[in-house]
Amino acid sequence: MACESRDEAATAGKNTNPQAFEENALSEVRHVIGVVSGKGGVGKSFVSVALAAGLQKAGATVGILDADITGPSIPYLLGLRGQRLMSLGDLYLPSIAPCGIKVMSSNLLLGREDDPVLWRGPVLAGALRQFWSQTSWGPLDYLIIDMPPGTGDVALTCYQSLPMDGVVIVSSPQDIVSMIVTKAVKMAARMDIGVLGIVENLSYLVSPTDGAEIDLFGPSHLKRDAELCGVDALDRLPIEPALAEACDQGRLADALPDDYLPGTVARALMLEAVPAPVPDLAAMDARLDAYRDSLGLVDGVPEGMEERDATPDEEPF
Ligand SMILES: Nc1ncnc2c1ncn2[C@@H]1O[C@H](COP(=O)(O)OP(=O)(O)O)[C@@H](O)[C@H]1O
Ligand SMILES: [Mg+2]
Repeated sequence: MACESRDEAATAGKNTNPQAFEENALSEVRHVIGVVSGKGGVGKSFVSVALAAGLQKAGATVGILDADITGPSIPYLLGLRGQRLMSLGDLYLPSIAPCGIKVMSSNLLLGREDDPVLWRGPVLAGALRQFWSQTSWGPLDYLIIDMPPGTGDVALTCYQSLPMDGVVIVSSPQDIVSMIVTKAVKMAARMDIGVLGIVENLSYLVSPTDGAEIDLFGPSHLKRDAELCGVDALDRLPIEPALAEACDQGRLADALPDDYLPGTVARALMLEAVPAPVPDLAAMDARLDAYRDSLGLVDGVPEGMEERDATPDEEPF
């Protein structure tokens, strides 16, 4: 795979934020892809591993930076439980999972895996900096960032400080999640980061008796949400009990079938030639308003009351 320099990266629209964390001399990461979701439990870590494993099967060298610092699960999914990090001089060495994927995670820093991470915002941001600037990632074609759920402090730091080429948004077929998906797309757009597309996880269950697709969480919203947000629909993943079991046994990467997550892996492999587009916020809001109108969801203000916008003391970013 052709390697592009950081200067070329800057002109290609990558994160050139002044708050960007510095890369060290022993890391040479070509592409950084964030995996995000508005809420926990929809399979963000699952999709991070599936994307990493798919890229690896396509011949790429891959690492996962577990940025869900208070809820780390990558070492658990990849059979690295109980491992501790090593360092070389000032730099951490990522752990290497049996499948060959390099991993940095707060879980590997804890004395016991069931110790809670009780760190405040600045310490969390400091950990993230260590995982990027003070980690010897070596040459990597792709670094996948398993982002914390939601739009909080650490997610903001990831967007501002890591040189992300774009994000993959993970959803599930529940209505509340659709709203959360639009928030996640808008957050990327506000931070001027591209969106590769949406993956709908837990999309259906294949009936063991007749092979029919059962919509366990309701009908798929993937196509509608992707159209409303103006981003690509990448993949639908079924609920697979055998894969849930593989997660608990720490062998998810090995249990995934070939050609799993095909749309997302193909999109990531195209990044070099086709950068992820930053969604157009105004066009997105217009489509969402038209959709709400078509459903009759018109906002009304009761007599005697007035609408009030949120007015934080400081600009959030
Ligand atoms: N498509 C799937 N099929 C089966 N189990 C899944 C699937 N996606 C997620 N899971 C299960 O759900 C658990 C939670 O997913 P996870 O990726 O950790 O969620 P998140 O990172 O969004 O909080 C996983 O450990 C796994 O057991
Ligand atoms: Mg997770």
